[in-house]
Amino acid sequence: MNDSYLKFVNSPFGARLARSLGLPKPEVLRRYRADRPEFDGLVAIGAGREPRLLDALANLVASIGVTSVAHESAGLWVPLAHRHGLMTGRFESAEAGAQGKLAALLFDASGIEDSSHLAPLHGFFHDTLRSLGKCARIVVLGRPPETCESPRQWTAQRALEGLTRSLGKEARRGITANLVYVAQGAEGSAEATLRFLLSPRSAYVSGQVVRIDAGAPGRPADAASASTVPAFDWSQPLAGRRAVVTGAARGIGASIASVLAAEGAHVIGIDIPSARDALDATLRQLNGTALAFDIAAPEAAAQIAAALDEQGVDIVVHNAGITKDKTIAKMTEATWQSVIDINLGAQERIDDALLAAGILRDGGRIVGVSSISGIAGNSGQTNYATSKAGVIGRVQSMAPRLRARGITINAVAPGFIETQMTAKIPWTIREAGRRMNSLSQGGQPVDVAQTIAWLAHPGSAGVTGQIVRVCGQSLIGA
Ligand SMILES: NC(=O)c1ccc[n+]([C@@H]2O[C@H](COP(=O)([O-])OP(=O)(O)OC[C@H]3O[C@@H](n4cnc5c(N)ncnc54)[C@H](O)[C@@H]3O)[C@@H](O)[C@H]2O)c1
Repeated sequence: MNDSYLKFVNSPFGARLARSLGLPKPEVLRRYRADRPEFDGLVAIGAGREPRLLDALANLVASIGVTSVAHESAGLWVPLAHRHGLMTGRFESAEAGAQGKLAALLFDASGIEDSSHLAPLHGFFHDTLRSLGKCARIVVLGRPPETCESPRQWTAQRALEGLTRSLGKEARRGITANLVYVAQGAEGSAEATLRFLLSPRSAYVSGQVVRIDAGAPGRPADAASASTVPAFDWSQPLAGRRAVVTGAARGIGASIASVLAAEGAHVIGIDIPSARDALDATLRQLNGTALAFDIAAPEAAAQIAAALDEQGVDIVVHNAGITKDKTIAKMTEATWQSVIDINLGAQERIDDALLAAGILRDGGRIVGVSSISGIAGNSGQTNYATSKAGVIGRVQSMAPRLRARGITINAVAPGFIETQMTAKIPWTIREAGRRMNSLSQGGQPVDVAQTIAWLAHPGSAGVTGQIVRVCGQSLIGA
């Protein structure tokens, strides 16, 4: 679906008119394209006291091949970068005046143990924010507060959330800001997540907090050597993996199938029999496999398990979902039940069948699709919001149970995404949904798909039990 306002204000005439009338001007987001470098430009590094993640950042900067500059708060960066053989310089005040030079800001706040030591965050972002280019990235790194030994450390680390979310709201111009809490011992497991958050792949992910647990394999190469995949290739992270995607005939599901296939997975797409033609067409293009099942049918989980049994799967994406909106006083029981059944019950039944028979292999990935309606609730959507909040409960309850098998389970919670589902919303509500976020626009199906691909990545073994909103930092439920 088209966002004609976004197109208009980015035309020469529309931009002039928007400027003179003081209208908001959403930025055309820079999204991942295979024919453009994923990472380029200058990255500024800042740090608080005793930063513990600079080594991990040096590995990352080396791995993605960008040039870094050290802010005065990160004095240790220059010698460290030289040890890693990196090109680096100092962030000079002259550069602070030069608009649009920086592609990303990275701040290591992991060593901050007291609220009285938060001032370097002010210094770094005060000096650097105006030098960020359009669609730049901000990533703050800390320690998970709940793992901190002292209340003061917990307090200071928790404070980072307020800073990061505010930066996302202040920065505008397509810039995103996210916070990554890296547990002690998980320093080597952060690369896939940091790559995603620095990449154009995370164009519509902002104001999020991601936790990386310890105990998971380090770089994906470590994970790969333990499985059947011989060597790790960042451009084909899902090579050799089999991924099931429900609701793959159109919309977000078709995009998930296409992104997972582009990353090397063999995709098995499921959709209702009446969508068979569209499903076949989508999967044919991807050299995937199409399976026509109504996942609401009681026998569907067993039939899907039987169809996948021989070769097993590594990734399960529960994307199929429906809305049947009515206020609860006007909603029939059948309307209530069909939404719960497809959006939530089917996920439970399919997972149970695949897990019990070992069809979802150890080290696998489950990703559910929730919604910001499941976080905030929505008038006219009691059934939908109940189902989507249930998806969150499922992720939280299953994550610890699946840990021993190395299986992660997470969910994405999309905000307003431009699809046939949202095209049905009345215009005024649709416009409000589109604009009420820090990026002032709706997301695209590919934004949800790329987020799912990151959660499905072999390097995301430390990310489990989490809900990541793909909502441009929507005000709803924030
Ligand atoms: N579009 C948004 O803004 C938005 C926002 C939040 C969450 N979501 C969620 O994202 C997911 C995809 O949404 P979309 O906008 O692409 O919707 P869509 O209606 O365009 O696509 C949904 C797909 O699921 C399939 N499906 C429905 N019932 C099925 C069943 N019983 N068995 C098998 N397949 C079935 C449909 O045939 C369709 O191909 C849904 O779970 C939705 O709730 C969407």
